[in-house]
Formats: sequence, structure tokens, C-alpha cells
Amino acid sequence: MPDESKKKTIIVALAVCIACSLLVSTAEVTLRDFRYKNKKLDRIRNILKAAELPNGRDEAVKVYEERVRPLLVDLRSGKRVPISEFNDLLNIEKFDIRKLAADSQYGRSIPKGEDIAGLGRVPSYMPIYFILDGEEIRSIVFPIVGHGIWSTLYGFIALERDLKTVRGFTIYKHGETPGLGGEVDNPRWKSTWKGKQAFDEEGNLRIRVIKGNVDASRPNSAYQIEGLSGATLTSHGVDAMVRFWLGENGYSALIERLRKDMYGYL
Ligand SMILES: Cc1cc2nc3c(=O)[nH]c(=O)nc-3n(C[C@H](O)[C@H](O)[C@H](O)COP(=O)(O)O)c2cc1C
Repeated sequence: MPDESKKKTIIVALAVCIACSLLVSTAEVTLRDFRYKNKKLDRIRNILKAAELPNGRDEAVKVYEERVRPLLVDLRSGKRVPISEFNDLLNIEKFDIRKLAADSQYGRSIPKGEDIAGLGRVPSYMPIYFILDGEEIRSIVFPIVGHGIWSTLYGFIALERDLKTVRGFTIYKHGETPGLGGEVDNPRWKSTWKGKQAFDEEGNLRIRVIKGNVDASRPNSAYQIEGLSGATLTSHGVDAMVRFWLGENGYSALIERLRKDMYGYL
């Protein structure tokens, strides 16, 4: 067959297409496991970061297994879900916030007036992570999600066992502008959350991300985080997401239960 024949060109093009698609699907199948493991490791490391525990790649799994007890919680009642009720969707290991939110049984719509984080639908069930030191509870890590100016933000906030003081805060996934809203994952900014008070003595939710400086001489400063300069919209998003998740539609029923009997909960 001459080199410039149409038939030969089509055969060669088809052969290249088949070879490429075989290559891509083989890579997809062989890398799936690897990607799943990496995603899981990333999540573990971020939980540990929020709890201010060692989180290097080599040590994270060991630290997690020794120090972290994950539980699945029904947000409406604050009760934990027994493992016997787990299934493919309702599951800590396979937890997928978007799938649960969209599900008619496991997710729910937030009424417009209450949807301060603009989430629309949220899961009725969320995983939480108790950080233990032997039998002692040290802190509790809560997953949070909200919207910045361009993207969905995913993170964790950890509270000390007094259920008021912030132990740590992380945003581990976002698509905000580097140098502006992208500073949400700047370790320096995240460290400004440590030691702040999320709730007052009466248990009222008080924490706010504010525009401008926090004046340390003012009594309210214990509840305030300085917003990111040049990124007021992202800062508003973070403020709303934290208040949403620590509030009525988030973990408040659970926090109420823990205030009464934290050790009985485990
Ligand atoms: C290209 C571009 C990217 C921007 N990215 C962000 C961002 O990631 N987060 C944000 O809050 N504002 C971002 N802004 C700025 C907002 O439009 C708005 O001006 C800003 O939130 C106001 O913040 P300030 O009151 O602190 O100046 C961006 C603006 C431009 C032009």
C-alpha cells in the first residue's frame, strides 16, 4: 500500500487511537488505588494538622491510628451512628460530602434564610474526629465546607476539649486566587486561629472573621480573626462557613450533647 493512500492513513490513525485509549485506561485502572490512598493520606494529614499533631507523610498513618477516633454523627440529633448502620454511602471511610448532600435520604436542603454559607444542600451526617491521649480526650476535629469568591473551600476546625477554644484551623482545598483569597491556606494566617474562642461562657457562638486589625485590648478580640487583606470576599466566606458548621444547622446538637457528657459519647 502506498504511504499516501487514504486507507493506510485511516488504519494508522485508528491504531494510534486504540493504543492511546488502551494506555489511558490501563493508567486509570492501575493508578486508581494509588490515587485513593493518596487522597486518604492527605485527609488524614489535614485532620492531624488541625489538631496540631505530627503529620509528616511517613508518620501520619501511625499517629492517626494511635490518636484519632473517627465517629459518624447525625447532625439533627447529635447522636453517633452505630457501625451496624453503615452502608456504601453512610460510611466514614468512603464519606463523600457531595454524594451525601445530594442524596434524598442522607442529605437535606437548608432554608434560604438560614443558609449563611450558601451551601444549598448539606449532609445530615458528618464524620468528626476525637483526638485522644490514652483515655483522655484532647480535642475534637470538625470538617467544614463553604464558598469563597471563586471556589468551594474544604477544611477542618479543631476545638479543645473545653469545646470553646480553637485548637487549630486548616483549609486544605480551594480555588481562590494565589496571594489574595489563596492566603486561606497560608500557615501564618491559619495559626492566628489558635487560642481564639469560638463560644462564650454561656455557649453562644461568637467567633468572627473581621475586616481589618484585631485590637487585642478590646474584650471581643478573643472571638475575632483578622480577615485577609485584599480578599474580603474570601474572608466573608470563611466567616460564614465556620459559623454555619458550628451553628444550628451544623454541629450544635452534637456540641450540646458533648457539653453534657463528653466521655459518655465515645
Ligand atoms: C483577578 C482578581 C482576583 C481576585 N481574587 C480574589 C480572591 O481570591 N478573594 C477575594 O476575596 N477577592 C479577590 N479579588 C478581589 C475582589 O474582587 C474584591 O476586590 C476584594 O475581595 C475586596 O477586598 P478588600 O476590601 O480587602 O480590598 C480578586 C480580584 C481580581 C481582580
